[in-house]
Amino acid sequence: MPTVPDSPASPPGVEKRKGLVVWFTGLSGSGKSTLANGLEAYLNHQGVMCFLLDGDILRQGLCSDLGYSLEDRKENIRRVSEVSRLFAMSGVVAIVALISPLRADRERARALFKDGEFIEVFVDASLAVCEKRDVKGLYARARAGGIPDFTGISSPYEPPLHAEVHVETGLHSYESSLELVTARVMAALQAPPSA
Ligand code: ADX
Repeated sequence: MPTVPDSPASPPGVEKRKGLVVWFTGLSGSGKSTLANGLEAYLNHQGVMCFLLDGDILRQGLCSDLGYSLEDRKENIRRVSEVSRLFAMSGVVAIVALISPLRADRERARALFKDGEFIEVFVDASLAVCEKRDVKGLYARARAGGIPDFTGISSPYEPPLHAEVHVETGLHSYESSLELVTARVMAALQAPPSA
Protein backbone atom coordinates (compact mmCIF):
# COMPACT_ATOMS: atom_id res chain seq x y z
CA MET A 1 0.00 0.00 0.00
CA PRO A 2 0.97 3.66 -0.13
CA THR A 3 4.18 5.06 1.24
CA VAL A 4 2.90 8.60 1.64
CA PRO A 5 2.97 9.47 5.33
CA ASP A 6 -0.14 10.66 7.15
CA SER A 7 -0.66 14.40 6.99
CA PRO A 8 -1.91 16.08 10.17
CA ALA A 9 -5.38 16.18 8.59
CA SER A 10 -5.57 12.41 8.18
CA PRO A 11 -7.55 10.50 10.77
CA PRO A 12 -5.23 8.42 12.93
CA GLY A 13 -4.16 5.22 11.22
CA VAL A 14 -5.45 6.32 7.82
CA GLU A 15 -2.80 6.89 5.22
CA LYS A 16 -3.36 9.42 2.48
CA ARG A 17 -2.73 8.19 -1.01
CA LYS A 18 -1.35 10.63 -3.47
CA GLY A 19 -1.96 10.10 -7.17
CA LEU A 20 0.19 11.51 -9.88
CA VAL A 21 1.25 10.84 -13.41
CA VAL A 22 4.71 9.92 -14.61
CA TRP A 23 4.77 10.72 -18.32
CA PHE A 24 7.52 9.12 -20.40
CA THR A 25 8.14 10.77 -23.77
CA GLY A 26 10.74 9.94 -26.40
CA LEU A 27 11.31 8.39 -29.79
CA SER A 28 10.21 4.87 -30.61
CA GLY A 29 12.97 2.61 -29.30
CA SER A 30 14.32 5.18 -26.83
CA GLY A 31 13.50 2.96 -23.85
CA LYS A 32 10.22 4.44 -22.59
CA SER A 33 8.44 1.13 -22.11
CA THR A 34 11.46 -0.51 -20.51
CA LEU A 35 11.82 2.28 -17.95
CA ALA A 36 8.06 2.47 -17.42
CA ASN A 37 8.01 -1.27 -16.69
CA GLY A 38 10.94 -0.83 -14.32
CA LEU A 39 9.15 1.97 -12.49
CA GLU A 40 5.99 -0.14 -12.25
CA ALA A 41 7.94 -3.03 -10.70
CA TYR A 42 9.71 -0.65 -8.30
CA LEU A 43 6.47 0.99 -7.13
CA ASN A 44 4.77 -2.39 -6.71
CA HIS A 45 7.68 -3.46 -4.56
CA GLN A 46 7.30 -0.29 -2.47
CA GLY A 47 3.60 -0.93 -2.03
CA VAL A 48 2.59 2.10 -4.10
CA MET A 49 -0.46 1.51 -6.27
CA CYS A 50 0.25 2.23 -9.91
CA PHE A 51 -1.02 1.45 -13.39
CA LEU A 52 0.93 1.40 -16.63
CA LEU A 53 -0.61 2.99 -19.72
CA ASP A 54 1.58 2.05 -22.67
CA GLY A 55 0.94 3.40 -26.16
CA ASP A 56 1.50 0.11 -27.94
CA ILE A 57 -1.11 -1.58 -25.72
CA LEU A 58 -3.64 1.26 -25.67
CA ARG A 59 -3.57 1.38 -29.44
CA GLN A 60 -4.98 -2.17 -29.45
CA GLY A 61 -8.10 -1.09 -27.55
CA LEU A 62 -9.04 2.37 -26.27
CA CYS A 63 -7.18 4.05 -29.13
CA SER A 64 -7.49 1.39 -31.84
CA ASP A 65 -9.39 3.80 -34.07
CA LEU A 66 -6.45 6.19 -34.24
CA GLY A 67 -3.50 6.37 -36.62
CA TYR A 68 -0.31 8.43 -36.58
CA SER A 69 -1.25 11.76 -38.14
CA LEU A 70 -0.52 14.65 -35.77
CA GLU A 71 -4.27 15.06 -35.33
CA ASP A 72 -4.71 11.41 -34.30
CA ARG A 73 -1.73 11.57 -31.97
CA LYS A 74 -3.26 14.64 -30.32
CA GLU A 75 -6.44 12.67 -29.67
CA ASN A 76 -4.43 9.66 -28.46
CA ILE A 77 -2.63 11.86 -25.95
CA ARG A 78 -5.84 13.57 -24.88
CA ARG A 79 -7.54 10.25 -24.13
CA VAL A 80 -4.59 8.84 -22.26
CA SER A 81 -4.11 12.02 -20.24
CA GLU A 82 -7.79 11.95 -19.20
CA VAL A 83 -7.51 8.30 -18.18
CA SER A 84 -4.33 9.00 -16.24
CA ARG A 85 -6.11 11.86 -14.47
CA LEU A 86 -8.81 9.47 -13.32
CA PHE A 87 -6.17 7.13 -11.94
CA ALA A 88 -4.40 10.00 -10.19
CA MET A 89 -7.69 11.23 -8.70
CA SER A 90 -8.21 7.80 -7.18
CA GLY A 91 -4.77 7.87 -5.58
CA VAL A 92 -3.03 5.66 -8.11
CA VAL A 93 0.23 6.56 -9.83
CA ALA A 94 -0.42 6.52 -13.57
CA ILE A 95 2.66 5.60 -15.59
CA VAL A 96 2.30 6.72 -19.20
CA ALA A 97 4.62 5.68 -22.03
CA LEU A 98 3.75 7.50 -25.23
CA ILE A 99 5.96 9.03 -27.90
CA SER A 100 3.80 12.16 -27.48
CA PRO A 101 5.94 14.04 -29.98
CA LEU A 102 4.57 17.57 -29.73
CA ARG A 103 5.21 19.94 -26.82
CA ALA A 104 1.76 21.47 -27.11
CA ASP A 105 0.08 18.07 -26.66
CA ARG A 106 2.22 17.26 -23.64
CA GLU A 107 1.52 20.69 -22.15
CA ARG A 108 -2.22 20.10 -22.55
CA ALA A 109 -1.79 16.86 -20.61
CA ARG A 110 0.24 18.63 -17.92
CA ALA A 111 -2.46 21.28 -17.55
CA LEU A 112 -4.87 18.63 -16.22
CA PHE A 113 -2.72 18.17 -13.11
CA LYS A 114 -1.76 20.20 -10.09
CA ASP A 115 1.78 21.47 -9.70
CA GLY A 116 4.08 18.64 -8.74
CA GLU A 117 1.69 15.93 -9.89
CA PHE A 118 2.82 15.69 -13.51
CA ILE A 119 6.32 14.32 -13.83
CA GLU A 120 7.58 14.45 -17.38
CA VAL A 121 10.43 12.08 -18.12
CA PHE A 122 12.35 12.77 -21.31
CA VAL A 123 13.75 9.45 -22.48
CA ASP A 124 16.49 10.87 -24.59
CA ALA A 125 18.16 8.70 -27.18
CA SER A 126 19.19 10.08 -30.54
CA LEU A 127 17.51 9.01 -33.73
CA ALA A 128 20.77 7.31 -34.72
CA VAL A 129 20.77 5.25 -31.52
CA CYS A 130 17.08 4.30 -31.79
CA GLU A 131 17.46 3.43 -35.44
CA LYS A 132 20.45 1.25 -34.70
CA ARG A 133 18.52 -0.59 -31.98
CA ASP A 134 15.44 -0.94 -34.21
CA VAL A 135 13.98 -3.55 -31.87
CA LYS A 136 10.72 -3.81 -33.81
CA GLY A 137 12.21 -3.32 -37.28
CA LEU A 138 10.03 -0.25 -37.77
CA TYR A 139 12.82 2.19 -38.66
CA ALA A 140 13.99 -0.01 -41.50
CA ARG A 141 10.43 -0.23 -42.81
CA ALA A 142 9.92 3.52 -42.40
CA ARG A 143 13.16 4.28 -44.27
CA ALA A 144 11.99 2.01 -47.07
CA GLY A 145 8.80 4.06 -47.30
CA GLY A 146 6.61 1.36 -45.74
CA ILE A 147 5.37 3.40 -42.76
CA PRO A 148 4.12 6.95 -43.32
CA ASP A 149 4.37 9.66 -40.65
CA PHE A 150 7.05 7.83 -38.74
CA THR A 151 8.34 9.83 -35.77
CA GLY A 152 11.87 11.08 -36.31
CA ILE A 153 11.83 10.20 -40.01
CA SER A 154 8.76 11.65 -41.64
CA SER A 155 7.00 13.15 -38.62
CA PRO A 156 8.43 15.55 -36.00
CA TYR A 157 9.60 14.97 -32.44
CA GLU A 158 9.92 18.04 -30.21
CA PRO A 159 12.13 17.30 -27.20
CA PRO A 160 10.94 18.66 -23.87
CA LEU A 161 12.63 21.87 -22.71
CA HIS A 162 11.91 21.54 -18.99
CA ALA A 163 11.23 17.89 -18.21
CA GLU A 164 11.33 16.99 -14.53
CA VAL A 165 13.64 14.08 -15.37
CA HIS A 166 16.02 13.76 -18.30
CA VAL A 167 17.52 10.33 -18.89
CA GLU A 168 19.97 9.63 -21.68
CA THR A 169 19.53 5.95 -22.36
CA GLY A 170 22.12 5.93 -25.14
CA LEU A 171 24.80 7.13 -22.72
CA HIS A 172 23.88 5.72 -19.32
CA SER A 173 22.89 2.32 -17.99
CA TYR A 174 19.31 1.22 -17.53
CA GLU A 175 19.90 1.00 -13.78
CA SER A 176 21.17 4.56 -13.42
CA SER A 177 18.37 5.91 -15.62
CA LEU A 178 15.74 4.07 -13.58
CA GLU A 179 17.30 5.32 -10.36
CA LEU A 180 16.88 8.94 -11.52
CA VAL A 181 13.21 8.29 -12.23
CA THR A 182 12.40 6.42 -9.03
CA ALA A 183 14.14 9.03 -6.86
CA ARG A 184 12.11 11.82 -8.45
CA VAL A 185 8.83 9.93 -8.18
CA MET A 186 9.36 9.01 -4.53
CA ALA A 187 10.21 12.64 -3.75
CA ALA A 188 6.98 13.74 -5.43
CA LEU A 189 4.96 11.15 -3.50
CA GLN A 190 6.43 12.36 -0.22
CA ALA A 191 5.99 16.07 -0.94
CA PRO A 192 3.03 17.74 0.78
CA PRO A 193 -0.06 17.93 -1.43
CA SER A 194 -0.39 21.15 -3.40
CA ALA A 195 -3.54 23.24 -3.01
S1 ADX B 1 1.97 8.80 -30.06
O1 ADX B 1 2.79 9.61 -30.99
O2 ADX B 1 0.55 8.87 -30.39
O3 ADX B 1 2.24 9.15 -28.65
P1 ADX B 1 2.24 6.03 -29.37
O4 ADX B 1 3.23 6.07 -28.26
O5 ADX B 1 0.81 5.88 -29.00
O6 ADX B 1 2.47 7.30 -30.31
O7 ADX B 1 2.58 4.81 -30.35
C1 ADX B 1 3.89 4.62 -30.78
C2 ADX B 1 4.16 3.18 -31.18
O8 ADX B 1 3.40 2.85 -32.32
C3 ADX B 1 5.62 2.98 -31.56
O9 ADX B 1 6.37 2.51 -30.46
C4 ADX B 1 5.56 1.98 -32.67
O10 ADX B 1 5.62 0.66 -32.15
C5 ADX B 1 4.19 2.14 -33.27
N1 ADX B 1 4.11 2.90 -34.54
C6 ADX B 1 3.46 2.47 -35.64
N2 ADX B 1 3.47 3.40 -36.60
C7 ADX B 1 4.16 4.47 -36.10
C8 ADX B 1 4.48 5.75 -36.63
N3 ADX B 1 4.10 6.14 -37.84
N4 ADX B 1 5.19 6.60 -35.84
C9 ADX B 1 5.57 6.22 -34.61
N5 ADX B 1 5.28 5.02 -34.06
C10 ADX B 1 4.56 4.14 -34.79
